Amino acid sequence: MIYENISLKKYNTFCLNIKADRLVTFKLEENAIRYFRNNSGSAERRLVLGGGSNLLFLGDFHGTVIHPEIEGISLEEKKEDYVIIASGAGIEWDRLVEQTVNYGFGGLENLSLIPGQVGAAPVQNLGAYGVEVKDTIEKVRAISLSDGSVREFSNEECGFGYRDSIFKKDLKGKYLITKVWFRLTTKPKLSLDYGSLKEEMNKLGVNSLSNVRKIVINTRLSKLPDPRVLGNAGSFFKNPIVDNVTAENLKRKYPRLPVFRDSYGNNKLAAGWLIEQCGWKGKRKGDAGVSDKQALVFVNYGNAKGRDILDLSEEVRKSVFEKFGIDLEREVEVVNPI
Ligand code: EPU
Repeated sequence: MIYENISLKKYNTFCLNIKADRLVTFKLEENAIRYFRNNSGSAERRLVLGGGSNLLFLGDFHGTVIHPEIEGISLEEKKEDYVIIASGAGIEWDRLVEQTVNYGFGGLENLSLIPGQVGAAPVQNLGAYGVEVKDTIEKVRAISLSDGSVREFSNEECGFGYRDSIFKKDLKGKYLITKVWFRLTTKPKLSLDYGSLKEEMNKLGVNSLSNVRKIVINTRLSKLPDPRVLGNAGSFFKNPIVDNVTAENLKRKYPRLPVFRDSYGNNKLAAGWLIEQCGWKGKRKGDAGVSDKQALVFVNYGNAKGRDILDLSEEVRKSVFEKFGIDLEREVEVVNPI
């Protein structure tokens, strides 16, 4: 379907009321292939938008927004230890997680309730509660926006890193992901090392995938504002990675500073803590604010413009830099009007 001059309010979780010149949606992969083949060499500005849960629009988008609506979850392979599940890029992420948990397939349960669509998962290597989606991705199929050619990327070719992949770097804006294959285990080993997961599990008594999902959902609901109720895009900044010397110096000065060792072996600081220490938690400027539940989340109380949220975030960034000497890097992608 092609829509002209359309509001993107329901296509971005900050709920910013901006418009796109054109929105093109695809329910079938072959239609997307045909569209990009027929428009090969086109100079139109394009943006692939899944759930819009990681974008901050600074104004109307003058170009074509591509929105995959490709459905379908299928069991592609079943072995004793693992299964391969394929999902269309347009499936709501949490629908996939719910189904895999219901079938008893392990790997995605810690990633419950993350907003967005399946197609966005490999782009950002989404992660939560000690798990990153890279550990389950078998391969990714994508279509070149420039000529409609189809390419499959192995896990290695995706170049995953913390909230990072080749689709955010060398291939940024070049591909539309249409389908993702996940390798999930039939003999789940639960990941309970993050925060109070283990403690919560002990309270429930039974170690199961569905209990992990339950705990993660409850934790998210208690800490993160629901974008359906209050516009936001999850963590606005990445958690900063620092060398040992910086971590030790900061820890000496601020003994309560949380420092984690991530799965890549890096020291990671909690950006939310740094922001809270600068006094920003719960602060509001007009309709742009810093969540009172989680200082790493910026919110739209109703009529904020993208620019209001960006300006507030820059003030926050400046004060964190002045107090701690740490320059926060945005996780959210800013989309300029031109
Ligand atoms: N903290 C504070 N004050 C705050 C927020 C956090 O002191 O206002 C402290 C907490 O006490 C805790 C630490 O910071 O010691 C970490 O907080 P939390 O567990 O809430 O997670 P996070 O590091 O702020 C990351 C991800 C989230 C993910 C959670 C849970 C990033 C940028 N964010 O947040 O992902 O849900 O861990 O695993 O890595 C997202 O990417 O959009 C996102 C929500």
